[in-house]
Amino acid sequence: MPPEAVQYQCRNRIGWSLIDYPPVNVLAAPVRAGLARALEAALADESVRAVVIACSGKTFSAGADIGEFDGPMTEPTLQAVFASIEASNKPIVAAVQGVALGGGVELALACHYRVATADAKLGFPEITLGLIPGAGGTQRLPRVIGAAAALDMIVSGAPVDAGTALSLGLVDAVVDGDLMQGSQHFCDQLIEQGAKPRPTAARVVEVAGFDEAGIAAVLSKHSRALKGRMTQQLVVEALTAATQSDFDIGLAIERRIADHSITTLESKALRHLFFAERQVSKVPGVVADSSKAPITQVAIIGAGTMGSGIATACADAGMAVTLIDSHPEGIERGLALIGSNYESSVARGRLSHEEAARRRGRIVDSLDLGAAAGSDVVIEAVFEDLALKQAILSKVAAFTPASTLLASNTSTLSIAELSRPCRDPQRVVGLHFFSPAHVMKLLEIVRAPNTDLAALGRALTLAKQLKKIGVVAGDAFGFIGNKMMLDGYWREAELLMLEAATPEQVDSAMESIGFAMGPARVSDLGGTDVGTKTRIELFKRESRPDPYFVIADALTAMNRLGQKTRKGFYRYQPGARQALPDDEVIELIRKLAAARGIAQRSIETTEIVERCLLQLINVGAEVLEAGVAMRAADIDVVWVHGYGFPRHLGGPMFYADSLGLKHVLGRVEHYAARIKNRKDYWRPAPLLEKLARQGKSFADRDSEGS
Ligand code: COA
Repeated sequence: MPPEAVQYQCRNRIGWSLIDYPPVNVLAAPVRAGLARALEAALADESVRAVVIACSGKTFSAGADIGEFDGPMTEPTLQAVFASIEASNKPIVAAVQGVALGGGVELALACHYRVATADAKLGFPEITLGLIPGAGGTQRLPRVIGAAAALDMIVSGAPVDAGTALSLGLVDAVVDGDLMQGSQHFCDQLIEQGAKPRPTAARVVEVAGFDEAGIAAVLSKHSRALKGRMTQQLVVEALTAATQSDFDIGLAIERRIADHSITTLESKALRHLFFAERQVSKVPGVVADSSKAPITQVAIIGAGTMGSGIATACADAGMAVTLIDSHPEGIERGLALIGSNYESSVARGRLSHEEAARRRGRIVDSLDLGAAAGSDVVIEAVFEDLALKQAILSKVAAFTPASTLLASNTSTLSIAELSRPCRDPQRVVGLHFFSPAHVMKLLEIVRAPNTDLAALGRALTLAKQLKKIGVVAGDAFGFIGNKMMLDGYWREAELLMLEAATPEQVDSAMESIGFAMGPARVSDLGGTDVGTKTRIELFKRESRPDPYFVIADALTAMNRLGQKTRKGFYRYQPGARQALPDDEVIELIRKLAAARGIAQRSIETTEIVERCLLQLINVGAEVLEAGVAMRAADIDVVWVHGYGFPRHLGGPMFYADSLGLKHVLGRVEHYAARIKNRKDYWRPAPLLEKLARQGKSFADRDSEGS
């Protein structure tokens, strides 16, 4: 028989109810039923004078079971359980340790008193899932901490620490030492004082600051994170109900709004990503377990921008790092870069001086490749030169044991080629870090046909320890992300420009749906020459017919390299980053189009957005069918974390599913018929055709596992 999800016992006048539902004590049906039973037992037992609700493990509770949101909640509902807790005639105390999130805090708020350990954190992450707290949170929280503070806490989505919770009045006491002893002590005091239950529902909402100006100020504080989103308005609506209605009516209004929030595209997209981000590291046959054999020692070869960024990321994760370069100047430059990364973290208040010094101190340098011996992982991050990278990898392979993971940081080269001269090529993987490597969360882990599962497991472990999202990609042109960017999205953006959409129009169109930056602005930021060099390398694998990035390459040839030369797709004033339209570029584009017989016309924003997204989806389907991505959901994670795809649209493949693949195919066919000069670019991917004809989605394909 499975263990009880809630264990109950009476000890020292207290009814102890312990939620034990690993891994994170979600408030799923067995927990709800267990809580109801524990409460019944406590109320029936005359020797019980107070009740403590606590949780086992590291997490108090991660809240409602997100997986249950697609159907009706089975009885007893959270609302019903919380109502009976609140109505109890014996005082009930929540004893919070670790993190309490969403429904976890709602449970604590339904209790009459709350104590927490000093390291506890309490928060409402619902907004990150496009939801509002739906089990009384929007009605009870303002009754405890005031409506304005409640708005800030719910809209931020971020947890507060125990000290802040205490000063807000969200918890009544912070316990030093053992939580159970502290809870016993707290209850003893309640009993001695003859304290009664203190139902949150009976408290009065503090409304100061919750007026038009106060609400606008909170929303504007979080506006960056909430760009293109609408859930924050639903939060305001529910909190307004708390300030204007009595508790039961407020609860009913919250229920209606919460039920609606579950059905929005925004919420479905965000919930899809929640699970996709956790599923991505699951690869059949691979165990990524850092607890058994953690990576503690890393060598990085090449102290350029990428090597230094990777070294910083590894030092941040607590690893001992050896940074190797063949030139003293290279080392010097790399260390200076690392130093300035840390200085800026200190200046921004992200790190203390001491912590920055501790992390910096984990990095030692060497001019000798042999210093890589003894490392768990060796990452070469020299520039994109096949022969040089091959030579380094094969030398390192010769003096390191087979258990050492060998990795090449590359965005273009074939891992199979790179590893060919190695003694044991099966332990080589590609690691496509995104720049800046110590900031960007995405890591494409490239698996060559002969990469073995052990190496893949080590690479996934490395990603996990670096707190990055590691996505496994096949060893093909551009892997997952760059393939879709180059052959899909950006190629189409350039073609739209050749048809006379201005760079500004294309950028604004994509930014209007939530991309952080449009393609021309991104090119100018990274440098048009970087793109040109990448394509030259990629063309050694596979070439592409004209027109393919003719504008970007022409800009590179004219030394219009973007922000660094103050001219690129746009022009820039000295010291300014604001992109200004440039007639010279429009003229250049006109000439490039005329030379290719491409007619100029006026183009609507909707067409720009649609064509760019359809290309992303169509090429995404090719990537999927070729097995370069294992799952459509993996593609979504890559695009959201590496390429600024708007999170609230769930990633390109989720977005396609939300439109319906029949519709997507129809639109691809529409452009195939209309855009005569580039018909081959609009050939529907066979997988898209197949799924659309079968009435299926990419998500169906993921769950069927084929
Ligand atoms: N509902 C359903 N499943 C959940 C969940 C929830 N609220 N919270 C976590 N899980 C699952 C994860 O999907 C994961 O499942 P898997 O092992 O099958 O992949 C497992 O619990 C562990 O979660 P993970 O995020 O990998 O663990 P962690 O220790 O890194 O983080 C939390 C723990 C609680 C901080 C994190 O899981 C989290 O933020 N959860 C979401 C909380 C939330 O949004 N609650 C509001 C719900 S409305």
